[in-house]
This record gives sequence, C-alpha cells and structure tokens, in this order.
Amino acid sequence: MEGMRYAALTRRLDVDSSHVWEIHYQARRRLDAGEDVILLGVGDPDFETPSAIVDAAERSMRGGRTGYAATEGELPLREAIARHHERLTTQRVDAEQVVVFTGAQNALFACVLCLVDPGDEIIVCEPRYVTYDGVVETPGAVRVGVPLAAAEGFRFDPDAIGRAVTPRTRAILLNTPHNPTGRVASREELNAIAAVAKRNDLWVISDEVYASLTYDVEHVSIASLPGMAERTVTVNSLSKSHAMQGWRIGWAAGPRPLARHLTNLILGMVFGVAQFTQDAGLFALTREFEELESMRRAYRARRALVCERINACPGLACAWPQGGMFVMVDVRGTGLDDSEFAWGLLEAEGVSVLPTATFGESAAGHVRVSLTVPDSDLARACERIERYVHGLASPRGRTGTA
Ligand SMILES: Cc1ncc(COP(=O)(O)O)c(C=O)c1O
Repeated sequence: MEGMRYAALTRRLDVDSSHVWEIHYQARRRLDAGEDVILLGVGDPDFETPSAIVDAAERSMRGGRTGYAATEGELPLREAIARHHERLTTQRVDAEQVVVFTGAQNALFACVLCLVDPGDEIIVCEPRYVTYDGVVETPGAVRVGVPLAAAEGFRFDPDAIGRAVTPRTRAILLNTPHNPTGRVASREELNAIAAVAKRNDLWVISDEVYASLTYDVEHVSIASLPGMAERTVTVNSLSKSHAMQGWRIGWAAGPRPLARHLTNLILGMVFGVAQFTQDAGLFALTREFEELESMRRAYRARRALVCERINACPGLACAWPQGGMFVMVDVRGTGLDDSEFAWGLLEAEGVSVLPTATFGESAAGHVRVSLTVPDSDLARACERIERYVHGLASPRGRTGTA
C-alpha cells in the first residue's frame, strides 16, 4: 500500500552496492550463456566440505536432531569452539564466552548492535570487506575509514588509526588476515593498535575468518595481547577453514557479559542455529581432515602460480598475500585505472576480476584476483591476463577501454 511508513533503518539499508559486483554479475551471465569466462571476482571456494562432515550432518538429522537448539549454541559445540579458539589465538576462553551464530557475518552484525549506539564511530581499515558498510551503518553507527599503507604492501597503520579516534569513537573493526589485501597484522602492529584501544577505552571487533589460512607468517589475535581480552570480541567461522561457507556456522568469543547480551539478541533475531548443523560443526572441530590439508596446500600453490606470473608481467605487480584467498594486483603500470583494467580484461579475454577502488581509496589502481577456482582455470586466466596486458597499445599511455 502506498504511503505506509518504513523505519529510518530501511533508508540506510537501501544503499545500492550492486555496482561493486556488477562486473561479476555480467561475467556470470556470459558464463551461463555458454561463453568461455573465468570468474575470479568473488571468493566462493571451489573446495567441497569434507564428506565425513556431510555424513555427520546426515546422521544427526536422521537421529532426530531437528528440533530447536540452545539459543547461544549447544554446549558441546561451544566447548569445542573454545578449544579451537585457544589453538588459533592462544587466548583461553570457556564455553560461556562463546556464542554461536549463522556465520561470522551474523556474529559481526550482532556484535556491532551490542557494542555501539547510533551515531557512535567505528574505525575500519580500508580497503575493507564490502559487507562492513552494512554491518556498521545499518545499526546507525558511523564508519570512519583509515587507509592501510598501500605503498608498503597494505601494512596496518596504527598511527593512522590513532589519529582517527574522536570522542565519538567506540570501536575498531579489525580484519586479519585481511580481505581483500591478504595482509596479516604483525605482533608489533597489533600491540600498537591495542595501545590505541586501551588509551581511548575502545572495543575491538576482530574478524579472523582467514586465521587458518596464513602463509609463513604467524597469525596473532589481538585478544591475546595484554589487557585486551576484556575489550575484544573475536569473530570466526568454519566457512574458510573447513570449506563450509554454505553451512553458516560462525561464532563470537569475548567477555562473558557480551556473550550474555549477544544471547539475548539471538533470542529475538535468529533463535539458534539448527541442531544438525551444530553437530556437523562439532564433528568438524574435533577431527582432522586430509581434505583440508590439501586445500591449504592448493591455496599456497595457487598463490605462488598467480604471484609469480603477475610479477613477471610488465605493467603488473603484486605483493604475495600473507593470508587468505585473494591476490591484490597493482595495475597502475598499465596506464589504466582498476575499473578500466577489469572491464577491458573481461571484454578482451573473458576473465573477471574485481576493481577495488570502491573498497577504499587506498586500493585504487588494484584489482582483486580470487584463488578459488581450479588450478587449470587459474593458469588459463594468467595466460589471458598476460595476453591482455601485452596487447595494451602502450603501457602507461593507453586510454580506457571500458
Ligand atoms: C573478511 C570476511 N569477514 C567475514 C566474512 C563472512 O564469513 P561467514 O561465511 O562466516 O559469514 C567473509 C566472507 O567472505 C570475509 O571475507
């Protein structure tokens, strides 16, 4: 009916972010129409959930575990998450500090709702994972972007974070290993960020969904640093570590009062994650899977394949990601901006990558390449990228093709 009023929240929700993914949607349409297109624009891994986990879910369902679950998550799963969290972060937590959500995404959203009030500021490093806009702004908080140091391989910049603090700042939303840059925050950087948080009495919401996908660097969790446990909530999930992105199993681990608030919120919001899903999660966290070891090896090999070929291609450059499943490619040497480069590449060679200026100005001139397709596709994509760059009339002097 016309004229009915909607909440102010709906206006904040109604931000058109489709332009960010437009190139992917267009590439997808072409692929569906039978064209030879390789999709490197999104991070939907090609690995399947280990079949023993699928079997565990089936057994659970058949065993009648289809009723309502404990709102905050079933105790055995929360205990297993607490142990997993300690292995990953070295921070000791117990089950009462853990709340289960439908993925890290849901956990992030709930944490913002429970930690900040409308009008409060949250510092977000940029470039940023795109859903952070909704996570921060939908509850009415204000996103304050702080650039990662692009010239230094997108290093975290604690001084810049410190300078961004105002009397309205309530939290820092941190993501390490970082999407899209693949940067992993070092212990020194995190110590300095922790000092900013303590000095200004801020919360830290630490998104660590790529914690089990690091390459030769240590993953440090800010919650494990002195004086940080009481002001940090760590968010993680099984999506990346166990190739379970569609199952929607994530969690928040933080101070006990926060866990209580989050549980109260879940009661009116999600009402718990399905029992059989949680059973699959428990099974996943209490066993080793050879498939996951080969998945990690595959990401490492794909990273080497892409980085070696990109760095050998005049006009392109990339820093080797320290974690995660993406490579940020600097395309400025071609004379094109990120959007021109990406659209031109799709047009000329049928490869879609994501221009990243929209993720934050410091990522202008870069495109994000996903390592989430089979090796043979990735190798073919590299050949096409090389051909495209070689075919550009004159590196640096070329005008746009989009
Ligand atoms: C940085 C980051 N945080 C959170 C998420 C959401 O993860 P989940 O599938 O657990 O909701 C993603 C998904 O790609 C991500 O890249």
